[in-house]
Amino acid sequence: MLRLPALTLLAAAVCAAAQPLVDFQVAQPPPLPQDAKQCTVQILQRTFGFSFGDPEIVQFTPPTDCGPVGSWAGISLNFTVTSNGTQFDRLGIFTFQNVEIWRTSTPEPTTGAGIIWTYLKDVTRFLPLFAKPGTFILQLDNLLETGLDGQYASTLHATFFASSAQHPPAPRADLIVPVTTLANDTGNDASVPPIFSLNVTLPRNTVEVYAELLASGNGDEEFWYFNTANQFVGDLPAGTSFGNGPFREVRLLIDGTVAGTAFPYAVIFTGGIAPTAWRPITSYRALDLPNYFLDVTPFVPLLTDGQPHNFSLDVVSAESDHAINQNWFVSGLLQVVTDPSGKPTTGKMNVYQGAPFAQTSTTGSVGANGDVNVTVKATRNIRIESTIVSGSGKVNNVVFTQALSYSNTQSFLNDTFIQNVQQTATGAVSSLHNGVPSTIDTYSFPLTIDLTFLPPTGNSFFADFDHSYTRTVLPSPFILGSTIQEHQLAHAFFEETAQGNFGNGTSNNTLNYVDLQGHTYDREVNAVNTAIVFDHQGGNLAPVANRKSGVPASPTKLNLVKPRLPGRRTVGGGQ
Ligand SMILES: *[C@@H]1O[C@H](CO)[C@@H](O)[C@H](O)[C@H]1NC(C)=O
Ligand SMILES: *[C@@H]1O[C@H](CO)[C@@H](O)[C@H](O)[C@H]1NC(C)=O
Ligand SMILES: *[C@@H]1O[C@H](CO)[C@@H](O)[C@H](O)[C@H]1NC(C)=O
Ligand SMILES: *[C@@H]1O[C@H](CO)[C@@H](O)[C@H](O)[C@H]1NC(C)=O
Ligand SMILES: *[C@@H]1O[C@H](CO)[C@@H](O)[C@H](O)[C@H]1NC(C)=O
Ligand SMILES: *[C@@H]1O[C@H](CO)[C@@H](O)[C@H](O)[C@H]1NC(C)=O
Ligand SMILES: *[C@@H]1O[C@H](CO)[C@@H](O)[C@H](O)[C@H]1NC(C)=O
Ligand SMILES: *[C@@H]1O[C@H](CO)[C@@H](O)[C@H](O)[C@H]1NC(C)=O
Ligand SMILES: *[C@@H]1O[C@H](CO)[C@@H](O)[C@H](O)[C@H]1NC(C)=O
Repeated sequence: MLRLPALTLLAAAVCAAAQPLVDFQVAQPPPLPQDAKQCTVQILQRTFGFSFGDPEIVQFTPPTDCGPVGSWAGISLNFTVTSNGTQFDRLGIFTFQNVEIWRTSTPEPTTGAGIIWTYLKDVTRFLPLFAKPGTFILQLDNLLETGLDGQYASTLHATFFASSAQHPPAPRADLIVPVTTLANDTGNDASVPPIFSLNVTLPRNTVEVYAELLASGNGDEEFWYFNTANQFVGDLPAGTSFGNGPFREVRLLIDGTVAGTAFPYAVIFTGGIAPTAWRPITSYRALDLPNYFLDVTPFVPLLTDGQPHNFSLDVVSAESDHAINQNWFVSGLLQVVTDPSGKPTTGKMNVYQGAPFAQTSTTGSVGANGDVNVTVKATRNIRIESTIVSGSGKVNNVVFTQALSYSNTQSFLNDTFIQNVQQTATGAVSSLHNGVPSTIDTYSFPLTIDLTFLPPTGNSFFADFDHSYTRTVLPSPFILGSTIQEHQLAHAFFEETAQGNFGNGTSNNTLNYVDLQGHTYDREVNAVNTAIVFDHQGGNLAPVANRKSGVPASPTKLNLVKPRLPGRRTVGGGQ
């Protein structure tokens, strides 16, 4: 499948520093027992040069030296990459046993000493996959061509944490079922539109099914939150914005009925709008794209007939035809619990309240001076109640609800020299099993972006980002729940001149993490240009030796080429 070079091309002037720049995304360290016996195995090592359509495919065998296979207390992945040269950011899809277990993207490299980054990801909830040998695929479609020479030298390790009396084996599903393309020669995410559908046949003794969705916009959907409603797109100068509006809903359908949805978080890749805002600190979740948690246990009475059922994923807009532009990459997975009796599950769906699409509204005004303001809003409520009777006779009364709301206001002012967007998406997923919370996904994703292009040419601009992620998740009763509060403030300047392109940026970040096992972590870290000027980590997950505070580097004369922007003030055009 085609993976468009995501964004801006960033090439740094050769700098004298011998050490590569350390890029990172703010995130909590995996909440795994550091005092447990650990076994680290290399899953793959690959330099992604011209790797378009040529993923790394390896066979994985579980280690046997950290206790019985599958008895581990936890599993983490370490993806460490170096790169130098000039290159776009790229999407990385980690597929194991046909399940997409991680979606990442790459920071844009610099010439000279280049960059290095490490991201540690907790993959304990995929333990049922890691307990069996299978095929591991990393698709990282990179291109080498004139002006693009950055390669990604990548190493992926997995660390298995042995269980003990002190650290019990991690609870796990009985099986994990992919809702993916099931391809054996590429990443298993599907491109939509059109809607993606797959037949899934579950064991007849299935009693609980928890779903996860992954989705990210690509191409004309990369800056989906800046796309303008069709009703007003014609009021803007031609080419200012893509149509189909800024609202996006990711839907999971089972046999054509909406089982649950998500109003997604806006991931900004490192070439996004103003690359200098995202180096060395990437936009939040650029290295670990978020997934969304649903409980589809209410569908169990329909799914335990031993027959294939049609699971579908799509992404829809607030337009009357729900159309979006090309394209989003989506995938899903099901964490399945079966009854030990082995006998078929029975039961009944008693209540289904839900509509195929969210309720939406689009309003706006067009000034005599050409100013255009557009607001798109959406709300969505779902309620599904079922009674599920396991083969061993246990009765589970399940109540699944979702309440989501969304608002996006775009302002195109001063002949589009000013382009602002203010968006917020909130969601509350709740599922009760016999009155006990079983799945929770409560989120608030406010985002403000102000772009100011400087007259008369618009060849330079300031970009301000105020982006937050506040989220409480309990992916299932047996997977660790947590609350994250993250806030990122970034400012950047970009200028295109005959002498080359220049830019600078600042980024201030605060993260707070707490989970149901009592792990805590906080980090406050600020960057000015490429230097870390303030850094503090606290909480019981913080590394013992904190990073030292640095001094601001002098404004770097970065040689920035063709950033991609949502509006027509795209300096030098887009990809
Ligand atoms: C991650 O892997 C890199 C090598 O690929 C290694 O240098 C680094 O120490 C590892 N980090 C952790 C926390 O294990
Ligand atoms: C730059 O990248 C090239 C190609 O991947 C590699 O051969 C070279 O060693 C790298 N140089 C540095 C300084 O990392
Ligand atoms: C991959 O799938 C294709 C067709 O689905 C099949 O012909 C091929 O043998 C498979 N390759 C492997 C390595 O399993
Ligand atoms: C699912 O299976 C049915 C037959 O049981 C078939 O008609 C249908 O085309 C299949 N759908 C997909 C998406 O493979
Ligand atoms: C599966 O459901 C989707 C969504 O309703 C629908 O578009 C598709 O045609 C269905 N596929 C089959 C084989 O019924
Ligand atoms: C658009 O919004 C801006 C900022 O809120 C306001 O100053 C301007 O008057 C509005 N213009 C129109 C046409 O609504
Ligand atoms: C936008 O227009 C107003 C009123 O004409 C002016 O005061 C302001 O400086 C302009 N801003 C930019 C960035 O052009
Ligand atoms: C970012 O943090 C620095 C201190 O590290 C502070 O001086 C600056 O005002 C902060 N910027 C914003 C926008 O909060
Ligand atoms: C970035 O450059 C702009 C324009 O020259 C300047 O106003 C701003 O202070 C610079 N910011 C930093 C952090 O260097």
